[in-house]
Amino acid sequence: MLNLTDSTTAVAPDTAAAAFEPRIVAFVCKWCTYAGADLAGTSRMVYPPNVRTLMLPCTGRIDTSFVLRAFLQGADGVLVSGCHPGDCHYTAGNFRARRRWTLFRDLLDVIGFDLNRLEIAWVSAAEGAKWVKIITEFTEKIRNLGPYHDMRRVASDHVPPIAPPAGGHGTVVSRDRQGAEARARPQLHADRHVAGGGNGRVRAPAQLTEAATEALRGGKVNVILGWVRNRTLGQARPTWIAQPEAAADLVAPGDAGNLARLLKRPEVRALLPAGIVARAAEVMALNVLAQEAQLDPAKVFLFVVAPDGRYLGLMDLAEATERVVADNVKGLDDDRPAGFSDETLAALDELMARLPRDRWQFWAAQFEKCIKCYACRGSCPLCDCETCFADRNQPQWFPTGSDGPGNLGWHVIRAFHLAGRCVGCGACQEACPAGIPLNLMGAALSRSALRHFGHRAGVSSRGVPLQSDYRTEDGEAFIL
Ligand code: FES
Repeated sequence: MLNLTDSTTAVAPDTAAAAFEPRIVAFVCKWCTYAGADLAGTSRMVYPPNVRTLMLPCTGRIDTSFVLRAFLQGADGVLVSGCHPGDCHYTAGNFRARRRWTLFRDLLDVIGFDLNRLEIAWVSAAEGAKWVKIITEFTEKIRNLGPYHDMRRVASDHVPPIAPPAGGHGTVVSRDRQGAEARARPQLHADRHVAGGGNGRVRAPAQLTEAATEALRGGKVNVILGWVRNRTLGQARPTWIAQPEAAADLVAPGDAGNLARLLKRPEVRALLPAGIVARAAEVMALNVLAQEAQLDPAKVFLFVVAPDGRYLGLMDLAEATERVVADNVKGLDDDRPAGFSDETLAALDELMARLPRDRWQFWAAQFEKCIKCYACRGSCPLCDCETCFADRNQPQWFPTGSDGPGNLGWHVIRAFHLAGRCVGCGACQEACPAGIPLNLMGAALSRSALRHFGHRAGVSSRGVPLQSDYRTEDGEAFIL
C-alpha cells in the first residue's frame, strides 16, 4: 500500500523525460473494482505496474481530499473507481459519489487543475479486462503528459512541521482536545453589545428599533443579532443584544458580512429563540441551515430589511423568503445562481475564458497570499463544523501552515464543503485580509450545482441538501 505520508516520494526530483514512469494512485471500492483488479491478477492479465491501489469500503467513502492529498504527495494521475450505478453494496454510495465528483471536477477546473490527470470509472468484480484497459490507457496518457510539474511546485513549497520534543509528544495538547476544553470554559461574550455606546452611523429604521425593543421586552426572543456602530472605525459591526434598551443602538446593516454566522456561537444558541436583522443574504443562509436541520426555523424571527434599507417587518423564515428571495429568483435565467453579484459572475466568466494554465497561475498567486488566519471560515455563516477538517490532527489531512500544500488544500476543500450551500454573500471575501477573491470559487460551484442538478442554495428551507441527495439519472458523461 502506498504510504501517503512518505516524504521521500513527495517531491522527488524529476528524472529525464524519457525515463519518466508515471505514479498513479487508484482509490477503489472493495466490493467491485478491487475484486475486478484481483480477477485481472488471478487471470494473469498484464498491465503497467505504475498504479498503487488503495482499497476503501465504497466510492461513497472516497473523500475528495484524498485525491488532492495524493497529488500533493507526488501522484501524476489519480483514478477513482467503484461499482456500477445500481450495484453499490451500500445501495447509493456511488450515486452520491457521482454528484460529489461532478462538483469537484468543476471546482478543479476553475483553479486550472489538469483534469486529464483525474479519471473516474465504474469497474465491476467481473470486469478484470476493463480494469486492465483503463490502467493501461491511463498510464499511457499520463506518460505522454509527463510529470505534474505544476502540482509538484506547490507541493515543494512545504514548511516541515516542528519536530516533537525528544521522548514523544510530552504534554502537547491536540487541537481537538484544546477545542473541547475551550468549549467547556465559560464564554467571555467578547462581541456582546451593551447599551449606551451611541453611534454616528445611520440609525436603524425607527420601526425596526421599536419592533426589536418590543420583541425583547415581551419575551418573543431572548437575543437579537443586529448591527451597531464600531466605536473605533465608525462602521457597522455585527453583534447581539439581549437587553431591550440596547435596541436603540441598532444601526442600518453594514455592506458586508452575514449576521447568520453569529448563530454558530454556542452562547447565542443557548439564548434561542433569536431575532435577526435579515437582508436577503441572511435569509438565504438561514434557509440552508434549516434545510440541513442545523436550525429550527421556529426558533428564529427575522426583522427583514429590503435592499434599499426599508424595514419590511418581523417575519418567520418562510415569509421572509417569499418577500426578499423568491421574487429575485423568479427573474434569474437558467444559468444564474442566486445571491451572487453581477461583478462576481462577470469575473468568473472572465476567469473561465482563460486557459487552464493561466487559471492555475492566477490561483497560485492568490493562495500564496493566504496567511491562514481563517477569517474566511469565521465570517461564513455556513462554515459551521464543530471541528473543522483543517483543525483535525488525528489524522492530519493537510498541513496547517500557510505554505503551498496547506493553502491549496485549505481553499479547495473549504470551497468544496460549501458546494451546493454557498449563498454568495461574499462575507469570506470581505473578511480576507489578503484580498483573495474567494467568492469566485463559491460562484463556480453554485453554477455547477445549477447546471448539473438544477439546485440553487438558500432559496428554500425544504428539500434535501444537494450533496445528501441523488437521482439515478444524474449525468456521468465524464465517467468511464
Ligand atoms: Fe462499491 Fe459502493 S460498494 S461503490
